[in-house]
Amino acid sequence: MTVDEKFGQLQQLPWTWDTGPGGGETKAVEDAARKGMLGSVFSIFGAKTTNALQKIAVEESRLGIPLVFGLDVIHGMWTNFPIPLAQAASFDPEVTAADAEVSAKEARSNGVHWTFAPMMDVTHEPRWGRIAEGSGEDPYLTSAFAAAKVRGYQGEDPKGLKAKDRIAACAKHFVAYGGAEGGRDYNTVDVSESRLRNLYLPPFKAALDAGVATVMASFNTISGVPAHANPHTLTDVLKKEWGFDGLVVSDFTGVKELIAHGFAEDGADAARLSLNAGVDMEMTSTHFVENGKKLLRAGKIEQQRLDDAVYRVLQLKFQLGLFDHPYVEETDEITEPSADARKAARAAAARSMVLLKNEKSVLPLSAKASSIAVVGPFADSADLLGTWVIPASEKKFPAVKVLDAVKKAAPKAKVTYAKGVDAAGKDTGGIGEAVAAAKAADVTVVVVGEPPAISGEAAARSDISLPGAQEKLIEAVAATGKPFVVVLVNGRPLTVGDWLAQAPAVLEAWHPGIEAGHAIADVLFGTVNPGGKLPVSFPRTVGQIPIHYNHESTGRPYDPDNKYTSKYLDLPDGPQFPFGFGLSYTDFTLGEPKLSRSSVAADALRKGDTLEVSVEVRNTGERAGDEVVQLYVHDRAASLTQPVRRLRGFRRVTLEPGKHTTVRFRLGAEDLGFWTNDSHGHFTVEAGAFDLYVGTSSAATAKTGLTVS
Ligand code: NOJ
Repeated sequence: MTVDEKFGQLQQLPWTWDTGPGGGETKAVEDAARKGMLGSVFSIFGAKTTNALQKIAVEESRLGIPLVFGLDVIHGMWTNFPIPLAQAASFDPEVTAADAEVSAKEARSNGVHWTFAPMMDVTHEPRWGRIAEGSGEDPYLTSAFAAAKVRGYQGEDPKGLKAKDRIAACAKHFVAYGGAEGGRDYNTVDVSESRLRNLYLPPFKAALDAGVATVMASFNTISGVPAHANPHTLTDVLKKEWGFDGLVVSDFTGVKELIAHGFAEDGADAARLSLNAGVDMEMTSTHFVENGKKLLRAGKIEQQRLDDAVYRVLQLKFQLGLFDHPYVEETDEITEPSADARKAARAAAARSMVLLKNEKSVLPLSAKASSIAVVGPFADSADLLGTWVIPASEKKFPAVKVLDAVKKAAPKAKVTYAKGVDAAGKDTGGIGEAVAAAKAADVTVVVVGEPPAISGEAAARSDISLPGAQEKLIEAVAATGKPFVVVLVNGRPLTVGDWLAQAPAVLEAWHPGIEAGHAIADVLFGTVNPGGKLPVSFPRTVGQIPIHYNHESTGRPYDPDNKYTSKYLDLPDGPQFPFGFGLSYTDFTLGEPKLSRSSVAADALRKGDTLEVSVEVRNTGERAGDEVVQLYVHDRAASLTQPVRRLRGFRRVTLEPGKHTTVRFRLGAEDLGFWTNDSHGHFTVEAGAFDLYVGTSSAATAKTGLTVS
């Protein structure tokens, strides 16, 4: 390969599906492919489209190296599953694996080899729109979901990427993107080494252990050094300490943005800094190809670094089998969701819903109700797919509406509808009609929330309550005195207003995807007993943020009777709803947690010793249902202050009424130790006393003690 051809492999360009092959910007992509000056194209799909472009690379370029095609298949291609934050609420990694398997099949058949998912940015920032794309505030839960999703896309065997139903995954965004100050997207992150390693890095390590083929750098700075030019994270940790031999791709114009960050002087400087730090492929901006040769000649980039980057790109293409099979079978192309895929998406969505309140057993609704009013801006709306949807899929495969699904679930009921208010805006003119519908019905379902466009990338909000006049609608329905249920469809935790006290029942449905209406109806009518749990704390007000369960203790922990303790004068302690919280239509009781032994030597733990924590869980109610048993660890005194609780085990179990089971967790060094501030990576397990909490949310009170000697 010539030096130019080598740099060509490091270039990734976007396709513009609006203009179609041969038109507008796509012409530049085709020319680059023809010249052998292109390694990858993204935002492209379709068997015909990808084959036509691939043909240019394979048949017209000097070396005939195939292109690798990427696409943001985040929670579905044609079959949109619930948003990733919702999936995390299932506390069942199989849910995300199901999404990934369906996505991989649909995407690969469309000529897509590589998805830019899973996103695994732990965040304590509900204002940040991208909280919708991750698994919430906890590194342990996020790690479990990251690993499951990687396996779902790629298969268990890393050699299986050649298969017709597999795609390469991308662990993103590396790293600490979720720490954006103020929750404003792309913002600064200043983070200690210990927090980096204890909070932000674990999901990436889990993804690597699951065999993830690629990693994407993040837009943020990390303690002053942009992630795209950060040798510590990209090379020292990722490539050397962890031995990652896959491909690191930049995010969109992340290389170019080093100039705006005030870190690189110009494009050449940006290319030098980024390539040397460990980025292998440049997405969208073109500084590597434009400046690479000169930088190499000037000794500013080493030949070895260039060859290493090229090796990683070519290795991915070999792993995907592209040298043998560059094209996709046009007759195999999947162009719509199959019945099975829809079924999986419906089950996933229902499994992801969280029952936040249910007084006087308003839920489940009776399918025999004679009249039901369905009101609110999202009641008759198909805008329930959530952030990151392939534009073509949004148009062709809109979400099932709640109104339609309720009619289907209760065929004998008189189902009425009134929008009440818009999703945004101050107009309350329609509320009267909604109130009349509520008055005339046995029960009302109020569907309110966030339009997907205000969550996801570049969608930070400073106020995370229900937008527009939606709270007024709920209050007006409440004033009728008739029973009602609030269904929330949203992409982030919301602050709930005074209406919460007036609403007998609240169901958090998130943005549920293509089968939204059916899944919501399944839960409302009790075909599915809700068992999801919050993967993120719901704050009482924005002023309380950051508020997360895994915080450290202050020297003056909250004490209601002592003013000089850590608190807000105008708020009760703690969140509105804690991490791990969620109700069911049945009741569960947990026994006392038991330990296989009450002390263990730190040395033995380091050598792989483990102990068992077990607890009995019993369904004491009258319906079958799911409970998520959760285990939290607290190291009482350590050489670095530790979170008051850390999730180290969870299990979702299904129990028939009256039945019980014993849930067992294994604890080892990984669960009891932590990373220090040593930049070379030092994990320590210290002697001392630990509290182990077992329960059904992060507010669990049942505990047992463990001594590490
Ligand atoms: C920018 C986003 O940050 C990233 O997550 C995505 O994969 C790329 N754009 C490509 O669309």
